[in-house]
Amino acid sequence: MNAKYEKFLELVIYQVYPRSFQDSNNDGIGDIPGLIQRLDYLCELGVNALWLCPCYKSPNHDNGYDISDYRDIMDEFGTMDDIRTLIREMHARDMKLIMDLVPNHTSDEHRWFIESRKSKDNPYSDYYYWFDEPLNDWQSMFGGSAWEYDKTRGQYYLHSYTVQQPDLNWDNPAVVKEMQDVVDFWVDLGVDGFRCDVIDQISKDFENGRNCFGPNLHKYIHALFGREKTEHLFTVGECWAEDIEEIRLHIAEDRGELSTLFQFEHLDVGRGKDKFTRMPGSLAEVRDVLVKWQTLTQENDLLYSLFTDNHDNSPFISRVADDRGLRYEAATCLAAMFYLLRGVPFLYQGQEFGITASSYEDISSFDDIESINAYRAYLDEGLTKEEALARINFGGRDNARRPMPWDNTENGGFSGGKPWIPLSSRVHEINLENDRKSEKSVFRFYQALLALRRENPAFLRGKFTNLSKETDTYFMYERTLGSDSFTVICNFENDSVISGDGVSGTLVLSNYADAVEGSRAFRPYEIAVYRKN
Ligand code: GLC
Ligand code: CA
Repeated sequence: MNAKYEKFLELVIYQVYPRSFQDSNNDGIGDIPGLIQRLDYLCELGVNALWLCPCYKSPNHDNGYDISDYRDIMDEFGTMDDIRTLIREMHARDMKLIMDLVPNHTSDEHRWFIESRKSKDNPYSDYYYWFDEPLNDWQSMFGGSAWEYDKTRGQYYLHSYTVQQPDLNWDNPAVVKEMQDVVDFWVDLGVDGFRCDVIDQISKDFENGRNCFGPNLHKYIHALFGREKTEHLFTVGECWAEDIEEIRLHIAEDRGELSTLFQFEHLDVGRGKDKFTRMPGSLAEVRDVLVKWQTLTQENDLLYSLFTDNHDNSPFISRVADDRGLRYEAATCLAAMFYLLRGVPFLYQGQEFGITASSYEDISSFDDIESINAYRAYLDEGLTKEEALARINFGGRDNARRPMPWDNTENGGFSGGKPWIPLSSRVHEINLENDRKSEKSVFRFYQALLALRRENPAFLRGKFTNLSKETDTYFMYERTLGSDSFTVICNFENDSVISGDGVSGTLVLSNYADAVEGSRAFRPYEIAVYRKN
């Protein structure tokens, strides 16, 4: 790896969902000044970069992923001056800011679309996909046809997401130029990178009936990030590539495309045919997926992204582990499983104190368009209200979007006003204050884990070697750099006896207070990290 990519390995990225992070003016909505107030907290945790979910002007049909102005901030979140302050305050703390770039679609209230829909013949008419008839039977990701008839223009346009999110036509060179300008605008303001929303969809494969991975995808990504002005950026693609060769073409260092991408295979463990249905899943399955991608990305010298949670998924712990009696043990076990591997760690807000899914008795407690549409569809299919709600409670995106429960004051310390969406139903049990007061603090474990990673180059650049078999009920792996070597053991079930070479050495991290060195029986979710002497 060259020096630029090696530097990226030092990043520890914390994802902020600004609407739910910290409200500073008691209107019930999180905002940029609120985030600034919490920067010292984030430093204390040990992260050094933020991925900020969209905070641009938006009518919020999809919570900011429907952008009506890429060069301004949503009024509820603050002003451009607040953003400048945020960048300044972050850089003063040696933190990097990674903005969310949404290049596949705009809001229908964006000026480009307002113009485009007026007639077939105007400067913006080809900024979107317009046809006299629906071109195919593509479905919107949130349900229903992906084609919508527009009366004014007398044609159909494509929207892969909500009706209010028309897809941009990247085959029009003017669109490529516009998006380059948007990127440059933020680079000039000082941002350090971008998380690129559904970037695989900016080139459509009409021929093979796929709204992604079209023939010009590499060219368009290169046009954004392969330029002198943008080459230094850290970029991570929400890119659903599943094949290592395809992934390599997107993120190999010499490609001038992305630094890394999210590989989502492990998120499917524990769920059925869609994200709302449960299917038994085990940590052993998660381990096998991790081993596969660690091996492939290591062989190909690629940067892998390490994550369990984000704003589109209910907390991972609630799907694959114990989020009740052994919540501390399970949360810390997941942390050790993932964040000592080879790659760039991403944490999602609340994960650092073991936040879980929560549960509501009425659909009025939900906001997310995906969940609400799915709920209606389940009722239409004949499910009872209770059955439909159980699915939304299990898999809905709002699980990850509830306001941050900071403490035991009103509204969890998130806001002095009525929050835009109810807090977690477990707020009085699970909040940062309770966690930090507890002897078993997930937060303190994260601090120790991130410090261990930061202080030992073996966790950054060291070789990954898997030491566990598919039949084992634990994950054991080694990270080695020169004469420096660490063994990480994550046990899944009660009383797995673990012995052998791996367990010798000095114990440098564990999640059971009475852990001892040497071959022994590991308890549920017990983890241990040994430094080889
Ligand atoms: C991505 C985002 C998701 C959003 C969608 C449309 O999947 O992560 O939140 O709804 O794209 O922009
Ligand atoms: Ca506010």
